[in-house]
Amino acid sequence: MSPSSKTVSRLPQATYQRVLAGQVAVVTGASSGIGKAVALGLAAAGASVVVNYASGSTAAEEVVDKIESSGGRAIAVLADVAKETEVQDLFRVAIKTFGTVHILVNNAGLQRDAALVDMTLDQWNTVLSVNLTGQFLCAREAAREFMRREVDRRISVAAGKIICISSVHEMIPWAGHANYAASKGGVVMLMKTMAQELAPLRIRVNSIAPGAIRTPINVGAWDTPQAYQNLLKLIPYKRIGEPEDIAQVAVWLASDASDYVNGTTLFVDGGMMLYPGFVDNG
Ligand code: BGC
Repeated sequence: MSPSSKTVSRLPQATYQRVLAGQVAVVTGASSGIGKAVALGLAAAGASVVVNYASGSTAAEEVVDKIESSGGRAIAVLADVAKETEVQDLFRVAIKTFGTVHILVNNAGLQRDAALVDMTLDQWNTVLSVNLTGQFLCAREAAREFMRREVDRRISVAAGKIICISSVHEMIPWAGHANYAASKGGVVMLMKTMAQELAPLRIRVNSIAPGAIRTPINVGAWDTPQAYQNLLKLIPYKRIGEPEDIAQVAVWLASDASDYVNGTTLFVDGGMMLYPGFVDNG
C-alpha cells in the first residue's frame, strides 16, 4: 500500500539528553509549527526557552505551560521580528528574565504566495522583512549579548550559537513564491557571512533547511490524500517531515556535540534536494 496522509505514522516521541542544561534559548515564531517543536525540544534538552510569538498569546502560553509542566523554564514574549525596537525589547526581556542568552533559533517566517506578475509590493516586503530582515535583527542582538558575556566553559565551549531556519528553497527555485525563495536565498549568505565574521569570537552560525514539514504553513500540500501523493513525488524518503525532525537537529546544532560545525546548511528534507524528478527522466 502506498503511503497516504492518513496511513503514515508520526515519529515516535523523541527523547533528549540534557545537553543544553544551564543554557538560555530564544526561539522566534515559537507558538506553532517548527518553532514550537524546536522550543519544546530545546527545553527537553535542558534549556530555558524564550517563546517568541507575533500574535495569538494563547498558543504561546500553551507552549510555555507544556515546558513548565515538564519541569522546565520558559516565558512567552510578544515581538514582531521585523521591527527593530521590538527585537531589542525581546532580548532585553530574555536577558532580564534568564540572565543571558546562549542560543538563538531564527525561525519566524511566513509565505505570501502570488504569481510574479500579480505580486504586490506589500507581499514582497512582508516576506522579506520577516524572513530575512527579522533574522538579521535577531542575530545582531544575540551576537551583541554573546560578545558581552564571552565563553563560559561550564555552560558551553562556544560563546553562542545561532541557528537560522532556512528552507530547501534557499537552493530550489519556486514558481509562484519569488518573495519566499528570495528571502531564503538571502538567508544563506546572511548565515555564511555571519559565520565567517563571528567565528573568531567563538560564535557558531548554521542553518537548518527543512523540506516539506507537516505544519500550518503548507497545510494545502498534505491535508488531502491527493495533495499528499503529489507531495511524495518530491520526497525520495516517501514521508512528510514532522516538526520533531527539525527539533532534534536543532538540539544537536545548539549543543557542543556540533562544536566544529560552522557556516553550513543542514538539509532536513527526506532527500528533496536529490532532484527526484530525474529518477525516471533526463
Ligand atoms: C515551505 C513549505 C514547502 C516546503 C517544500 C518550505 O520552506 O515553507 O510550504 O512545503 O518548503 O517545498
